[in-house]
Amino acid sequence: PVRAFSATSALNIAVKNVTVVGAGLMGSGIAQVSAAANLNVNLVDTNQKALEKAKKNIEQSIARVAKKKHADDQGAQKKLVDSVLSKVNITTNLRDAVKDSDLIVEAIVENIDVKQKLFAEIEDAASSKALLATNTSSLRLCDIGANLKHKERFGGLHFFNPVPVMKLLEVVRFDPTSDETFESLVQYGKSVGKVTVACKDTPGFIVNRLLVPYSFEAFRLAERGDASMKDIDTAMKLGAGYPMGPFELGDYVGLDTLKFIMDGWSKAHPNDPLFKPCESLDKLVNEGKLGRKSGEGFFKYN
Ligand code: CAA
Ligand code: NAD
Repeated sequence: PVRAFSATSALNIAVKNVTVVGAGLMGSGIAQVSAAANLNVNLVDTNQKALEKAKKNIEQSIARVAKKKHADDQGAQKKLVDSVLSKVNITTNLRDAVKDSDLIVEAIVENIDVKQKLFAEIEDAASSKALLATNTSSLRLCDIGANLKHKERFGGLHFFNPVPVMKLLEVVRFDPTSDETFESLVQYGKSVGKVTVACKDTPGFIVNRLLVPYSFEAFRLAERGDASMKDIDTAMKLGAGYPMGPFELGDYVGLDTLKFIMDGWSKAHPNDPLFKPCESLDKLVNEGKLGRKSGEGFFKYN
């Protein structure tokens, strides 16, 4: 069984300064919720344009939150937006950013070699006490962290898209993760307003392990012509209470992301029927139809 959290708060490392590496969809959201919790945030990316776009996205997203929180008070809305933006420092200089951080959260491209290389650089530049975490969707912590010198400081913080809205955070530990690291990651999660659940280093953790095979089963149902994509979406929304049906959600998450996750798992577990790739999805991705972000996936978007 997954080890339960201990009640001793003395084990926790207090997080005040956070660096988020990767300023895409997820990294910008993680930076936003951290800044909204009054933490000092460095948001790092190799691409300056991605950093500028992330800052714009954070501004728009926090404006939505502020509008809801202070419906009749434009002054208070502006104050919240300004205070969150002022807490997010964007930079391309990784070494400088991580030097004084208590926690470094990696949210870069889902590629094992790139992630391993990044963590080597982070470990070299960060304080020996800093906590290190990955937001990977599908890779194993034991692979990403294979070359770390201090594996006890490493764990998983798996956020969900859109980060400012989704309340869940999966906190993941692999064998070497220390209790102190794990509990500090849990405390950080709570401090940014998330409900945390614990999971071991198993493919897809909890949510993706269930959600991704379910989505692929839906894609196959439509592939066989048993029901239309629209009807499957309607069925799962109205019959199972999901906010989005599997096709809508696939387009929202990104079809390339889904394909990448499943390809990795099916390579590692070729005989597991839960991890079977799907022809119709492969075809769409090969045609560059990646979902909302490319304007077309299962459905068309303007
Ligand atoms: N920032 C801030 N607020 C946002 C937001 C954002 N980016 N997006 C939506 N919101 C807020 C809106 O302001 C709105 O608030 P109110 O209802 O209080 O006005 C609320 O969220 C709902 O938004 P909308 O009315 O625009 O649209 P909606 O009701 O269709 O909700 C949704 C949008 C929250 C995305 C909802 O459809 C949903 O929950 N979808 C499922 C998402 C999901 O399953 N995510 C997990 C994907 S899997 C994953 O992330 C893991 C992985 O590793 C791949
Ligand atoms: P994204 O493509 O939107 O953003 C990735 C960013 O990382 C890009 O801006 C890129 O320039 C930057 N980057 C790449 N290599 C870098 C490096 N070496 N140093 C610094 N920056 C670098 O990706 P995303 O959807 O935000 O996903 C990020 C991570 O989060 C992935 O591991 C993914 O599996 C995971 N995740 C994604 C979702 C989702 O729904 N998209 C949900 C949960 C977790």
